[in-house]
Amino acid sequence: MVNLDRHSTRIFSDKQIELATLKQIVSEAQAAPSWENSQPYHAFLATGETAKEIREAYMKNFSKGLASHTEVVPPKEWTAEADANILDWQHRSADSPQKEEFGPANGRLFDAPSILFITIKKDASSYVAYDAGAFGYAVLLAAEDHGVGTIPAYGFVRYPDLIHDHFKIPEDEAIFMGIGLGYPTEDVINDFKPGRTALDKILTIKD
Ligand SMILES: Cc1cc2nc3c(=O)[nH]c(=O)nc-3n(C[C@H](O)[C@H](O)[C@H](O)COP(=O)(O)O)c2cc1C
Repeated sequence: MVNLDRHSTRIFSDKQIELATLKQIVSEAQAAPSWENSQPYHAFLATGETAKEIREAYMKNFSKGLASHTEVVPPKEWTAEADANILDWQHRSADSPQKEEFGPANGRLFDAPSILFITIKKDASSYVAYDAGAFGYAVLLAAEDHGVGTIPAYGFVRYPDLIHDHFKIPEDEAIFMGIGLGYPTEDVINDFKPGRTALDKILTIKD
């Protein structure tokens, strides 16, 4: 059964995760299915000093107001339904007791002591994105099983050139997604659980 206790961590403590645990998490996530078992992604893990350097460089860029961009096709327009879900999320976070913490936490990359970057080819198909997404969710679930908190966030990939430089990632690979990993602090922001839309809004069954 899927672990429904998982939810995003937005402030991590500075405790490092054991390297063996991180490797185990990524290895378990490799059980994710993919098109003909193609596994069409790579993962780059920043820990310790490298994660710190990335967080600090992002904060510098952010404070300079440097424009961010993605290396994959960004969402152009959401459907009305997705728009409504996003609005619901925005209202919930804006009305929550932790509302003041979202901006600063995002700006500090959640103090994540480890960041896993998932790359796919820049000209990848939507099926590759499906496979990389399945792998990403498997990372979240495996981490939860190991008592490690996570957050997948656009914030980690907003300055992709920096990630290319750090890991010498070839130019034909896109920095697709970033996942922060670490141990959650007691901050209230880590109790934020937005819930999900009603099942019958996304599921149609015909007997
Ligand atoms: C592709 C993607 C991008 C996200 N980007 C951000 C982000 O930049 N900042 C943030 O606070 N949360 C981000 N999130 C986390 C979502 O807000 C969160 O997963 C969603 O609200 C559901 O909450 P839960 O993960 O706690 O269940 C992102 C999630 C995904 C999958």
